[in-house]
Amino acid sequence: MRLIDVQDLKKHYSSGMINKQYTRAVDGVSFFIEKGETLGLVGESGCGKTTVGRLLLRLIEPTSGKIFFDGVDITGLSRKEMRKLRPRMQMIFQDPESSLNPKMRIGESIAEPFRLGLHGRMGKAEIKERVLELVNIVGLNPEHVNRFPYQLSGGQNQRVVLARILAINPEFIVADEPTASLDISVQAQILRLIMDLKKDFGLTMLFISHDLEVVRHMSDRIAMMDRGKIQRIESARRA
Ligand SMILES: Nc1ncnc2c1ncn2[C@@H]1O[C@H](COP(=O)(O)OP(=O)(O)OP(=O)(O)O)[C@@H](O)[C@H]1O
Ligand SMILES: [Mg+2]
Repeated sequence: MRLIDVQDLKKHYSSGMINKQYTRAVDGVSFFIEKGETLGLVGESGCGKTTVGRLLLRLIEPTSGKIFFDGVDITGLSRKEMRKLRPRMQMIFQDPESSLNPKMRIGESIAEPFRLGLHGRMGKAEIKERVLELVNIVGLNPEHVNRFPYQLSGGQNQRVVLARILAINPEFIVADEPTASLDISVQAQILRLIMDLKKDFGLTMLFISHDLEVVRHMSDRIAMMDRGKIQRIESARRA
């Protein structure tokens, strides 16, 4: 069963003001991701990886093409319909600080999806309990919940981002170079955590990186991208 099915997706940016020039950031890509599968997306800087990721979650509008999520073409959905779908698809960015509210304590950030009633009404005590449970799952200390993002390391903040995503409980995750901003020594820990969470929570994932070794490690299949196009898709298992 395909959770994601992308057909001839394009994103062109007009760049020249006088004689119309276009950057073909994404220039006709087609692929699918099975439920529970991780598809790796690898390619050189500027080849269009992030643009594909953002298109899939409709954070930006495609120039043309179709994106089916769980059988529904989301390119035609209204803002309201999209809002309903949004919790089912989440993105992990390179820089964890950019997806955390700097004025919110860690515990509040993780609690927010519960407080907003994403999974029905929950009492304060229950929310607190769920937050501590998630803090534990992602390997943070309970005392971290009272801190602010600037008081945590990059690796710790990426763990907070993951806890918050688990609170939202999506089916599909786009992880865009999720460890690129971290110290080498913490990168492997965070990658392992993402792998474990993916397995434990049955997530489907698009894992983006310029590093083929990392992508191979994380993925079931790999899509090789070059200048806006996917050149080929192959199994991540070595022959
Ligand atoms: N908002 C925009 N306006 C104009 N051009 C853009 C915009 N966003 C991206 N591009 C261009 O589209 C191309 C693809 O960019 P994208 O960020 O998707 O690459 P990437 O593969 O993620 O690169 P990196 O590995 O460096 O993150 C680049 O040439 C970029 O300059
Ligand atoms: Mg990118």
